[in-house]
Amino acid sequence: MRLNEKVAIVTGASSGIGVGIAEVFAEQGAKVACVARRQEEGESVVRSIRDQGGNAVFIQCDVSSEDAVLAMVQKTVDAFGRIDVLVNNAGVNFVRAFEEMTVSDWDRVMEVDLRGTFLCTKACIQLFLKQGTGNVVNIASVHTQACLPGAAPYDAAKWGMVGMTKALAVEYASQGLRFNCLSPGLIDTQIWKDIQDGAEDLDACLKHWRANIPMGRVGTIREMGLATAFLASDDASYITGANLMADGGMTSQLISREI
Ligand SMILES: NC(=O)c1ccc[n+]([C@@H]2O[C@H](COP(=O)([O-])OP(=O)(O)OC[C@H]3O[C@@H](n4cnc5c(N)ncnc54)[C@H](O)[C@@H]3O)[C@@H](O)[C@H]2O)c1
Repeated sequence: MRLNEKVAIVTGASSGIGVGIAEVFAEQGAKVACVARRQEEGESVVRSIRDQGGNAVFIQCDVSSEDAVLAMVQKTVDAFGRIDVLVNNAGVNFVRAFEEMTVSDWDRVMEVDLRGTFLCTKACIQLFLKQGTGNVVNIASVHTQACLPGAAPYDAAKWGMVGMTKALAVEYASQGLRFNCLSPGLIDTQIWKDIQDGAEDLDACLKHWRANIPMGRVGTIREMGLATAFLASDDASYITGANLMADGGMTSQLISREI
């Protein structure tokens, strides 16, 4: 098993991609701290992992709060004795025209997507250095290659995540630590449901997205889990500072096509 006996923190593990990552990690032998704000949903994810024979605990935490993050990292160590992998997956996004955007809109995205990534990474780094091993996978987005209108704070935060990933990869490579990004394309989560629910013509909506994804389908949370597990595992031992696209070819297509 790729992650046998590794201890991993997965943030935002109460829904969507975070659940896929936590499930695959547990399946591949990791002990998983499932971190999220929503207790009921988080505990239900942990129950389901345990029912499948996996080892997981739920830790409630708002990743934008330094005190909460420090307590979460301590609880992980109390539960499992060490930390090998941190997956910064918690994130928020919304679509709004830039001229209508407020300072609190900007802050909300920055606080979770960028500050949360900074706080969780900082809270683990001393332990990683003491252990002489440890790696971080930051869940960024295809928005780190190409953008859509109305997502300026999200794009700025996700590009910031990539910048921080590369900076830390360079800073800590000689001390045995690795830092990488996984950038999902359109994944079968709430956002894909919202896109379909909001479509005036569902058939046209499906055709549009299929045409804009060379593989002709959205990705699954399990596929994101598998790609993250690869980056977090020793199979990726010579990979650091990377931003791996997991997007069915979306960002390799030169022209987005309208149907
Ligand atoms: N779904 C996609 O198509 C897609 C595409 C590209 C990138 N992403 C990225 O993948 C990650 C997961 O997205 P998702 O679609 O699964 O979203 P989601 O909304 O289903 O999950 C996000 C998770 O983060 C948690 N979260 C939000 N704020 C938090 C906070 N302050 N503290 C702790 N947890 C918090 C939520 O409770 C939830 O568990 C995000 O970083 C997102 O930007 C998603």
